Amino acid sequence: MESELKLRKFVAPEFIFGFGALKLAGRYAKNLGASRILVVTDPGVMAAGWTDQVIGSLTLEALPYVIYSGVTPNPRAEEVMGGAELYKNTGCNLIMAVGGGSVIDCAKGIGIVVTNKKHILEFEGVDQVAIPMPPLICIPTTGGTSADVSQFAIISNTQEKNKIAIISKAVVPDVSLIDPLTLTTMDNYLAACTGLDALTHAVEAYVSIAHSPITDLHALAAIRLLSSHLVPSLAEPNNVELRKQVMLASLEAGLAFSNASLGAVHAMAHSLGGLLDLPHGEANAILLEHVMSFNFPEAGERFSQIGEAMGLDLQKRSLSEKKAAILAEIGRLRNAVGIDKSLGQKGVSRADIPQLSKKAMNDPCIVTNPRHPVRRDIEVIFEEAL
Ligand SMILES: [Fe+2]
Repeated sequence: MESELKLRKFVAPEFIFGFGALKLAGRYAKNLGASRILVVTDPGVMAAGWTDQVIGSLTLEALPYVIYSGVTPNPRAEEVMGGAELYKNTGCNLIMAVGGGSVIDCAKGIGIVVTNKKHILEFEGVDQVAIPMPPLICIPTTGGTSADVSQFAIISNTQEKNKIAIISKAVVPDVSLIDPLTLTTMDNYLAACTGLDALTHAVEAYVSIAHSPITDLHALAAIRLLSSHLVPSLAEPNNVELRKQVMLASLEAGLAFSNASLGAVHAMAHSLGGLLDLPHGEANAILLEHVMSFNFPEAGERFSQIGEAMGLDLQKRSLSEKKAAILAEIGRLRNAVGIDKSLGQKGVSRADIPQLSKKAMNDPCIVTNPRHPVRRDIEVIFEEAL
């Protein structure tokens, strides 16, 4: 499955990883020349106290700010446009995102809208952003989405009941302040969903046709860390060392997928997320085994390496035995974190599948899937996951 493309680039923002990283927000904002900051966040993150901590660090540097907290899970185009209005009307010159993937994606969207003066839905696809955004500092509060290091932003188009993927170097933040302490206030189901989102990032990046030796290193590191630390971190939510390992895994997975791109799981999850407002990680978790099964004939060797990184002993096994063992291990992990519903149980019906599949086939993530699907293949995978 070696791609014919041999040239590879690797892009990542400056990032600080470790306990207390978020306290550096004010200093970084000042260094980047902020005179007024749009702080993008959501009510849950504010209630958990993280927004206040970040604001405290801005206040220490005497930096004025405006809060925009109108972001919902699976951020909508209208929310991006509302944030862009506020940014312009209040004279901001730097954006700071404090929250999970939804908040960070919304902040990225606000950034490209204010400089390019176009509607957010006009940036869909790869490299559609002409003008760089204002400085963006991200403080992630979930371990999984890695929006804080990635070249991706996912925005919901509520009219079309779809999600669009914006993939561009222009949406890579300037700085990411990754503080594992923020994970301690996530509820367990969100932590399970974001953890499996990270696992899906690593798996899809590792088998992507755009993978490279550098993205491989990060993908396998993420898989090893998640296999050994995700379930224990959910059993001991206040164990900050375990949370740190999960946050590190998320970062590793983010570096991998941001540069290798993703595959059919994400293409299908984006399509589902537009229909159902399902947590992104949950959609991935439900689809992952089914897509891996479809992809296995084209990437058996690389899936075996993934299985070994998960701790499986695959020596002296036939390819079909390896496949069964790897899929069983993914299923075991999914059940162990409490994601045990099918798509049907989440409200997807057979009648939705043709439309879901059509949208998934148009998602940019499908391009790097190791096995090239036709629309009927995607329909069958959805049917299997019902
Ligand atoms: Fe994801």
